[in-house]
Amino acid sequence: MLIDLRSDTVTKPSKDMLEAMMQAHVGDDVFREDETVNELESRVAKMFNKESALFFPSGTMANQVALKLHTNPGDQVICDKYAHIFNYESGGASFNSGVSCNLLDGERGMFNANQVKEAINPEAYYYSKTSLVEIENTTNKGGGACWDFNEIRKIKTVCNENNLGLHLDGARLWNALVEKNETTLQYGDVFDTISVCLSKGLGSPVGSILVGNKDLMSEAIRIRKIFGGNMRQAGYLAAAGLYALDFNVPRLSDDHKKAKGLGMVLTTLDVVKRVEPVETNIVIFELHDQVNEQLFLNKLKEHHVHIISMGSNKLRMVTHMDYTNLMHEKMYDILKNTTFNAI
Ligand SMILES: Cc1ncc(COP(=O)(O)O)c(C=O)c1O
Repeated sequence: MLIDLRSDTVTKPSKDMLEAMMQAHVGDDVFREDETVNELESRVAKMFNKESALFFPSGTMANQVALKLHTNPGDQVICDKYAHIFNYESGGASFNSGVSCNLLDGERGMFNANQVKEAINPEAYYYSKTSLVEIENTTNKGGGACWDFNEIRKIKTVCNENNLGLHLDGARLWNALVEKNETTLQYGDVFDTISVCLSKGLGSPVGSILVGNKDLMSEAIRIRKIFGGNMRQAGYLAAAGLYALDFNVPRLSDDHKKAKGLGMVLTTLDVVKRVEPVETNIVIFELHDQVNEQLFLNKLKEHHVHIISMGSNKLRMVTHMDYTNLMHEKMYDILKNTTFNAI
């Protein structure tokens, strides 16, 4: 039995999801004639009380289009040093939008309103123009941490006072909503644009959505075209997204419970120096300096367990809908009964 905890993106569509995909009413989405894409977009726009939404092939593209919407070349974006847009989007911010990132030294991927205030460049011709603040919730490199919504509100006030846009990379916003009992409406109320992924914890094979007001989003569709993101009969994929929203959101709490369980067991291992607090479905832990990370990973692989390295002797496990109860029991067994300290 292969236990794949590398990411929540490794899930495969369930039989019922595939069935829903086969039933999709499709058309050419470039002519905006795909009924299922239109349905998904209007549903998600409504969820966030935004005027418009657009379906994307990836979270990266949705974020990159958002950066382009809010900035001009030479501008600066304020984000955390752990931000996905900075670390894991192949330098797209500079490649696509010609912007630099002012990286804040946050806590587990999260910063505060004062840090934002201090990071805004003064208005002088020799500074780059600060035009956007970007927040990630939950934080990926920060170990699935959830933001304090009160802090987000304070950051919004700073944005309003300084005429800055506010974008949310909500690839795993669903996890935060379930864990903190928050709503899409409260996020829609604060952010100018929000990207959400359907292909992570929610189990769709493909798809992200960007929401915003009409003016921004009419530009977003043009930029999506420039980035090569137009799709044709994408309704088959949108149907998976609709199914995921119908059936796969509340169950995320099960992934969180399992991740917390793994975190607890990891704290008991001699080879583990520290486990970061587990809030949602991501577990990041650090091995003691003398432990060889590759040997640790190989040892897990011998038991058909796959996880990934985050660098600096830190490793990551991510729980998801294809990580079954049986696999979870087996993981407890493997972690508790393997002699890792020989490595
Ligand atoms: C926080 C965050 N944002 C954006 C993305 C990009 O999503 P995609 O892989 O669909 O491009 C990811 C992917 O893991 C992510 O973790």
